Amino acid sequence: MLTVSDAHLQYGASQALRGVSLDITEQKITCVLGRNGVGKTSLLRAVIGQHPLSHGDVQFDGSIFTKKHVHDRARAGIGFVPQGREIFPLLTVKENLQTGFSALPRAQRSIPDTIFKLFPVLKEMLSRRGGDLSGGQQQQLAIGRALVLRPKLLVLDEPTEGIQPSIIKDIGRALVSLRDQGITILLVEQYLDFCREIGDHITIMDRGQIVHAGAPESLDQERVRAFLTV
Ligand SMILES: Nc1ncnc2c1ncn2[C@@H]1O[C@H](COP(=O)(O)OP(=O)(O)OP(=O)(O)O)[C@@H](O)[C@H]1O
Ligand SMILES: [Mg+2]
Repeated sequence: MLTVSDAHLQYGASQALRGVSLDITEQKITCVLGRNGVGKTSLLRAVIGQHPLSHGDVQFDGSIFTKKHVHDRARAGIGFVPQGREIFPLLTVKENLQTGFSALPRAQRSIPDTIFKLFPVLKEMLSRRGGDLSGGQQQQLAIGRALVLRPKLLVLDEPTEGIQPSIIKDIGRALVSLRDQGITILLVEQYLDFCREIGDHITIMDRGQIVHAGAPESLDQERVRAFLTV
């Protein structure tokens, strides 16, 4: 469904991706793990179109997306949940969800009920301000906002960062349920156990490159830990 081929990405003189190739299988959860600063977010920026590649290609659903604008990628069905959530604190939960409408044609501008089935707390809190929610609730809201687009591919950047364990479990269950409903998931994480629980494929990054990949049960645990511990 999504193929990244030999991606190189630079911020001025500093190179964040050095030849990353990755195949994301349809209706599976692919996890990308790695320490701070190895280029995980940069890889997602390349996928969603937030930063250009200096070399390489991104293909989605059989078309070349490398030069496509971020809005066109969203319209094509790539939903994004950013690192740090980026909820609008002064907008209500409902208004935060409605910001997801911007890439949708007018006739499709409604909030799908599946979002409230996954995260009932959002329905209870529809008229509360985003800033009044707990970190875990804001993360659920950020995922809900991405789902408003009815994405084919959902891309998430460290959704468990700073979240309490009970909500991490809810988020894990929600992602598995979305996969089972046919959504493809690309998940960046630093939390290995979460990926082992819900991931179908695990990819490890180090210094702008992919250094290890496989099914969770086939991974060389020692190598994985060596790449993840500081
Ligand atoms: N906007 C930017 N301008 C300049 N350098 C950047 C920028 N964003 C990231 N970098 C650098 O690029 C490298 C990769 O950063 P990136 O954010 O992709 O890492 P990451 O794996 O997502 O890290 P973290 O786990 O902390 O989120 C780092 O060295 C970082 O300092
Ligand atoms: Mg990051």
